[in-house]
Amino acid sequence: MTVSEAVRQRISTRAFLDEAIPKSELADLLATAQRSPSGGNLQPWKVIAVSGEAKDEIIAIAQRVLAEDPMGPVPGDRPVYPDFKLIDPVYDTRRKRVGEMMYDKIGIPKEDRAARIQWFMHNYRFFGAPVGLFFIIDTRMGHGQWAHMGMFMQTIALLAEERGWGTCMQECWARMRVQLHDHFGLDEHHMVYSGMSIGIPDPNDPVNDIYADRAPQEEVVEFRGF
Ligand SMILES: Cc1cc2nc3c(=O)[nH]c(=O)nc-3n(C[C@H](O)[C@H](O)[C@H](O)COP(=O)(O)O)c2cc1C
Repeated sequence: MTVSEAVRQRISTRAFLDEAIPKSELADLLATAQRSPSGGNLQPWKVIAVSGEAKDEIIAIAQRVLAEDPMGPVPGDRPVYPDFKLIDPVYDTRRKRVGEMMYDKIGIPKEDRAARIQWFMHNYRFFGAPVGLFFIIDTRMGHGQWAHMGMFMQTIALLAEERGWGTCMQECWARMRVQLHDHFGLDEHHMVYSGMSIGIPDPNDPVNDIYADRAPQEEVVEFRGF
């Protein structure tokens, strides 16, 4: 598989087969992903990988939080999304569009908000994946280092692709940042940025048949001096 093929075929996988991923293979993937670049080679990332009972414990934590308020706010000062009222509406349009694509594909209409919320809750079971990754960052890091964390995550996703695995990055876990922080025993300076489900994609689930479109190149690239 070429890099271009991996980039083009990666999608967010939201249904996984009940098949384990050997620890040695995951460790190998993560070791390769550490080759990701970061300013000053800080490597401002830490990963906690959960499987088996450790993953079940996380699911149980999530269920407890969600039972109190399924759609409650993300705690702290690092929201998942910007305030869409303040920025170019194109961003909110893109976000809504991919949401509609997904719910169309799985056949849940807009009016059925309860069913949409119910479906969204699959996030908090890692969509059935055998492994969940949590990305931890030192809160004293600046915006640059957060970007470098993103490079690390994308590298993991592409390496997973090469192995025939699928991934879904999951910032939805921000909802449980406080509980996860305590559960993982992180110190006061570290926080969970995002999760990621990783495993073998279910080829028969229609949700894995969504190829989210992208903005036309003119919207995002300016060529000068060519
Ligand atoms: C940092 C990050 C966090 C994300 N969090 C979630 C999430 O919590 N749940 C989810 O279903 N998708 C999540 N996504 C997936 C995006 O919705 C998806 O990448 C985007 O719609 C483009 O689709 P594609 O990944 O299939 O190309 C996340 C993506 C990124 C990069």
